[in-house]
Amino acid sequence: MNQFTFVDNLLMCEGVALRDIAERFGTPLYVYSRAAIHERCREIEGAFEGRGHVTCYAVKANANRTLLRLIAQEGFGADVGSRGELYLALEAGFQPDRITFSGVGKRDDEIAYALEKEIQAFNVESAQEIEVISGIAGGMAKRGRILLRVNLDIDAGGHAYVSTSKKQNKFGVPREKALDVLRWASGLSNIDVRGVHSHIGSQILKAETFQEAARSLAGLVKELRQSGLAIPDLDFGGGYGVQYRGFISHPMLPEESPERDVLAPAAMIRTVLPILETTGCRLSIQPGRSVVAQAGTVLVRVLYRKETEEKTFIIVDGGMNDLIRPSLYHAYHQIVPLTLNEAPRERVDVVGPVCETGDFFALDRPLPRTDRNDLLAIMGAGAYGFVLSSNYNARLRPAEVLVEGTSCRVIRERESIEQL
Ligand code: LLP
Repeated sequence: MNQFTFVDNLLMCEGVALRDIAERFGTPLYVYSRAAIHERCREIEGAFEGRGHVTCYAVKANANRTLLRLIAQEGFGADVGSRGELYLALEAGFQPDRITFSGVGKRDDEIAYALEKEIQAFNVESAQEIEVISGIAGGMAKRGRILLRVNLDIDAGGHAYVSTSKKQNKFGVPREKALDVLRWASGLSNIDVRGVHSHIGSQILKAETFQEAARSLAGLVKELRQSGLAIPDLDFGGGYGVQYRGFISHPMLPEESPERDVLAPAAMIRTVLPILETTGCRLSIQPGRSVVAQAGTVLVRVLYRKETEEKTFIIVDGGMNDLIRPSLYHAYHQIVPLTLNEAPRERVDVVGPVCETGDFFALDRPLPRTDRNDLLAIMGAGAYGFVLSSNYNARLRPAEVLVEGTSCRVIRERESIEQL
C-alpha cells in the first residue's frame, strides 16, 4: 500500500495532509511515514518465510535515531560503516550480536570500539585489514570474527558511482584470491573466519544480476569448503532497487512510466534465496534503500518562477545541500504538488537556490503550472537523503518529521544559525 496518496486533491502522508505539515514546520522539510517503514520491513522479512536469517539494515541509508529505533523494533540487525553509525545503532537498541561492520577503510579506533562492543562480525576488504584487526584484537585479548568481502567482478548496472563489484572498484578481494586470503587468515591467532560477503551495488533492478552474484558466491562457498574451510556464514549485502518513477499516479498528474522490469525488494530476495540456501550457511542481507526510500519525502516551497527564452525555472527553497541525489547521480525523483489543480502542464527545471548549475531536482519535467509559494513534494527521499545533506552555502539542514496515523512529530529539529 502507498502511504502517500491524494485525498480531495490534497497529498496525504497516512492520515495527515502534507500541506498542513509544511505550514506547521516550515520548508524544506523531510517527512517520513511510520507505516511505510513498517510495511517495507514486513515485506522483506516475509520473503524468508520463517527461514533463519538476519536482516541487517544498512544504517548509511538513513540514520535518524527515531527511525533506527523503529527498525530495531522490527527485529532487524544493523550494518554499520563507521564508529558513528555503530554508536547510533547501539543507542537505538540493535543487539551487538546482530551488527556487522562493513567498509573499505576502518580506522584502528573504530575496530577497537567494535571489538569492545562485541559486534557480530567485520566484513573485511583486504588481507592488511585482517592483519590490523588481528593485532588490535590480540591487544584486547579478544578475537575478531570476519567475513571476507569478495569482488565478484559483476556489472550491477545503474550509476557508476554506486556500482561496487567491478574489478576496477576499490571494494573487496578478487574472487580468485579469496581462498588464499581466508586460508592465511584462519591461521591468525585472534581471527575467527566466519564466511564470505558480497555487496555488488545499489538500486539494482534486474533479478539476473543478483542471481549471477548469488551463484558466484554460493559456488565460492563450496570451493572454500572443499579446501577445508568451515564457512558457516554468508552475507549477501544490499542493493535491492525501488521504484522512483510513477510512485504516485493520479489522473491530474503527468503520467510517469515506472522503471522497467522492477522487481520489488521482497520478490528480488525470493529469487536468490533458493541459490543461497544450497550453501546451508547462516544467511544475512543488508538492505538500506529498500527499507526507507519510499517512506520519505522532502517538502519544498516555490520561491520564484523565472521564465527565460530557453526555459522556465521553478526555484524552490530546498537545494542540493538538502537532497543531493539528482546532482550527484542524476537520480530521478518524482515531484508532485501538495495540492492538485487543473492548471495546464508545462515543462520546467525545478532548481534550488545554491550557486551551482548542478543544483537541480528535475530537468525538463512536465508539471502542472507552479507559482511562488506553491508547495511541492520530492518523492522517494527517505534513503540517502538527509544523511547526505550538508551546510553548503551555510544553509541550515532541514528538520525531519515522522507521521504516525493522524499525528506527526519532529524527530530532528531544524538546524539553527548558531549551530553553523
Ligand atoms: N551494504 C553495504 C556494504 C553498502 O555499502 C551499502 C550501500 C548497503 C549495504 C546498502 O545498499 P542499498 O540496499 O541501500 O542499496 N548514495 C547512493 C547509494 C550508495 C550506496 C552505498 N552503499 C544513492 O543515493 O543512490
